[in-house]
Amino acid sequence: MRIDRRPYWYKKAYLRFRYWYTEHFLAPACDSLGDYHTFMKPWYTSISGPNIVIGRCATIVSEPSSRVEIGVWGRKDWEGRIEIGDNVLMSPGTRISASDEIIIGNGVMMAHGVYITDSDWHGIYDRTERSANKTPVHIGNNVWLGDRATVLKGVTIGENSIVAACAVVTRDVPANVVVAGNPAVVVKNLDPEKGFKTRDDYFADPESLARFFDGVDKMVLEGNSFWNWLRCLVWPRRGD
Ligand SMILES: CC(C)(COP(=O)(O)OP(=O)(O)OC[C@H]1O[C@@H](n2cnc3c(N)ncnc32)[C@H](O)[C@@H]1OP(=O)(O)O)[C@@H](O)C(=O)NCCC(=O)NCCS
Repeated sequence: MRIDRRPYWYKKAYLRFRYWYTEHFLAPACDSLGDYHTFMKPWYTSISGPNIVIGRCATIVSEPSSRVEIGVWGRKDWEGRIEIGDNVLMSPGTRISASDEIIIGNGVMMAHGVYITDSDWHGIYDRTERSANKTPVHIGNNVWLGDRATVLKGVTIGENSIVAACAVVTRDVPANVVVAGNPAVVVKNLDPEKGFKTRDDYFADPESLARFFDGVDKMVLEGNSFWNWLRCLVWPRRGD
């Protein structure tokens, strides 16, 4: 379907079910999950391990072919943690794997296929154990990680910086720069004086935002009939 033919009431029911699924199956997997979350197709997101905190207004988009996976595999029971700030975006295929500590700031955007890990998981010479050194990863507020960017052990990325598509970050990145390549190097400086419009700004008033989107849905979908939607599903025509 090129046009959303779902009746308004059906979409509302679907959104309610999606919210219920997230609260029922995913929220208990976190130490805390903030309000106003949007998990799209939450049945393709997996959250495993202890000490996982996700702030409010998280937008997590998963697909059957590109699951979102957030996992802590600590050295001992109840060790290791992942803290994710407010207003974060995770696109399909995002994977965050912590051995000891991964901290992600507010408003961080993760594009499709981003991978963040704080461990190599195997030693260079001892392939049976992870390194005894702890190498936490810290990602500052408003960082943007491009398509298939990889952030490896021990890295700190300063606020507002951008990691270009397919970059592999092996060393610390200062604030307000663009890094690219493998290994990632600074390719551009950003001017913080210009100011950034961030996801924190976008979600400043989540109630009004939700009302706005509900109004748009109502306007766009209210005229859709149940029978025509059903017909589009089983008997689609060009132009549907
Ligand atoms: C990071 C990004 C936003 C920077 O855009 P920009 O500021 O217009 O950057 P420019 O095109 O001026 O590139 C600056 C330099 O970095 C290089 N560069 C940019 N992206 C690169 C990449 N992914 N890998 C390697 N080099 C890259 C450019 O070739 C250029 O090098 P030069 O100065 O030697 O010519 C953009 O390059 C990018 O990666 N976009 C993808 C974003 C994405 O994944 N979106 C998905 C939805 S969230």
